[in-house]
Amino acid sequence: MPPEIQCNNLERFNRSTNHLLPQAQGLLHVTVKPLTSANAPEGQLVLVQDMSFVERRSEETRRYLFYFFAGLAVVISLLTVVIAQLSWRGWVQGMRALMRGEGLLRRPDTSPKAPPELRPIARDLQKLVQELELEVRSRDESQISWTPDSLRAILHGELRGENVIVVSNREPYIHERRGEQIEVQRPASGLVTALEPIMRACSGTWIAHGGGSADREVVDAQDRVRVPPDKPSYNLRRIWLSAEEEAGYYYGFANEGLWPLCHNAHVRPTFRSADWKHYVAVNRKFAKAVVDEAGTPAPIVLIQDYHLALVPRMIREELPEATIITFWHIPWPNQESFSICPWREEILAGLLGSSILGFHTQTHCNNFVDTVDRLLEARVDRDAFTVSLGGELTAVHRYPISITWPPDPDLLEKPVSVCRAEVRQTNGLPKDHLLGIGVDRLDYTKGILERFHAVERLLELQPEWIGRFSFIQIAAPSRSKIDEYQSYEAQVRALAQAINERFTAGRQGVPAPILLKIEYHATESVYAHYRAADLCFVSSLHDGMNLVAKEFIAAHDDERGVLILSQFTGAASELAEALIVNPYDMDQCAAALHLALTMPESEQRDRMRLMRALVREFNIYRWAGRMLLDAAGMRRRRVLKRSESTRDEVSEG
Ligand code: F6P
Repeated sequence: MPPEIQCNNLERFNRSTNHLLPQAQGLLHVTVKPLTSANAPEGQLVLVQDMSFVERRSEETRRYLFYFFAGLAVVISLLTVVIAQLSWRGWVQGMRALMRGEGLLRRPDTSPKAPPELRPIARDLQKLVQELELEVRSRDESQISWTPDSLRAILHGELRGENVIVVSNREPYIHERRGEQIEVQRPASGLVTALEPIMRACSGTWIAHGGGSADREVVDAQDRVRVPPDKPSYNLRRIWLSAEEEAGYYYGFANEGLWPLCHNAHVRPTFRSADWKHYVAVNRKFAKAVVDEAGTPAPIVLIQDYHLALVPRMIREELPEATIITFWHIPWPNQESFSICPWREEILAGLLGSSILGFHTQTHCNNFVDTVDRLLEARVDRDAFTVSLGGELTAVHRYPISITWPPDPDLLEKPVSVCRAEVRQTNGLPKDHLLGIGVDRLDYTKGILERFHAVERLLELQPEWIGRFSFIQIAAPSRSKIDEYQSYEAQVRALAQAINERFTAGRQGVPAPILLKIEYHATESVYAHYRAADLCFVSSLHDGMNLVAKEFIAAHDDERGVLILSQFTGAASELAEALIVNPYDMDQCAAALHLALTMPESEQRDRMRLMRALVREFNIYRWAGRMLLDAAGMRRRRVLKRSESTRDEVSEG
């Protein structure tokens, strides 16, 4: 019989053979084997084995494992610290760039600065920042009351009083010799209407072609004259062009080439290499004048329009730190149409010397970016609407131009009733005669022929208006050296005459339906006509914005009058309460004329109030202020970027 043995719980007592005995220092392994001989038991063989070495070994193994894992943990931690150190700087730089919006101005997936691990979040972050910026931007904008003072405050605060230079072909004041006298004229130009109040507010210098017959007589030795003549507040620096230069650059390349190219008005653009040479040379003249006038390495330069497309790059080459804002006042066509221009790449590269390039509508921005994408090796970011050419970034944005608000009180001084009476009397019309008004440069893009056809159609369809309604067309002579303009003038004159004959022949004393005035009208006279009219008809076949529409609204502080507006103007996307028409659809235009002439006063007032509120809110100061604020933002980013790279260089060095 085996002895009574106490066993470890973990071991099972085996009656026949093996037992483990717990001892004070460890386990004993006991083996009991019965000894038999001749079938009779003779005794038992007991083998006792000390098992404490097993425990010792396990203890050692546990210790070794512990040391091994602890060592491993230390090595991994060290490696992590080293890797983190190495990548931290890249991350921080990338994040900083993203937060500043710089990473956002490049495609995140191609940004050389964004570390790969940031790229997946860059796009989302970009969207978020843009939305926030938009929100802040519109909140900021609506909180500012846009006046000359707010514009001045932006210049002195955000832009630290930097020198502002405006560059355009057309000058704001033209000195003309009339016998012994020198007269000062204001040109019929939307661009001048828009920019002049800005310059009055900001001072600075306006560089433009001196085209008046007495322009040279009034300038100083630096070709400068202080304007406006009655209250000088800024410098006009004149550029002189020879007759050949003017013919090639202005009449030729700008107005026979680019003008029809950019307007869908079915006039074939003409491009001549001789004109192009003059265009390049004259653009260089303007750029040089900017550099002369700058007086600082980082001036703010506002370049205007299609006459000066090469100037931005020319200035950028001389003054790399300049903030160049270029505004394209006319439409930008789709990329197929633009490709017609033999110097398309040069024009695009010239414009991309700008820090900011502005258009009136988003469609024009889209067309421009599409054109660049198709024709140049440039990086286009369609989310941020930026183009990067040779490392230089240009932001392409929509800035719908507008007019001064409130309008000059002198223009509204004469009561509406007096304007109505005077204009009717001057034109030999009865007191209660209904009047329409059109005010344009005599240009084929303005749809003056279509407008007259619409009046004719009205009188055909609604003969009750014959003798009760007339349309006054003020047409300022424009670019009359160009054949197309001469023949357009002849067509306009002939059509007006034909319509007048048709509806007055055999009707004694009936006023002519069309009163055509091809002559220059001063602003005061234009406003008196607006105020006297019952409706204004803007029938442009294609127009960047069209400020006549906005001026008519501003002139009607009596909240009367109806605006008929072509759907092909930039203004149509803002002035929804106008009667929007297709100028090519004569019946529709005639119906709009009838609707305007019969519109109840209450409806006229409702529409006018809404449109006046819009023009008041989005006035010309806001247009310029928005561009200057964006420019200030770009300058701040550039300064930050520069100080960051200096810091990086120092820490790397
Ligand atoms: O608004 C377009 C625009 O071409 C302006 O650039 C220009 O000042 C205006 O029309 C009048 O044209 P121009 O200067 O040729 O008389």
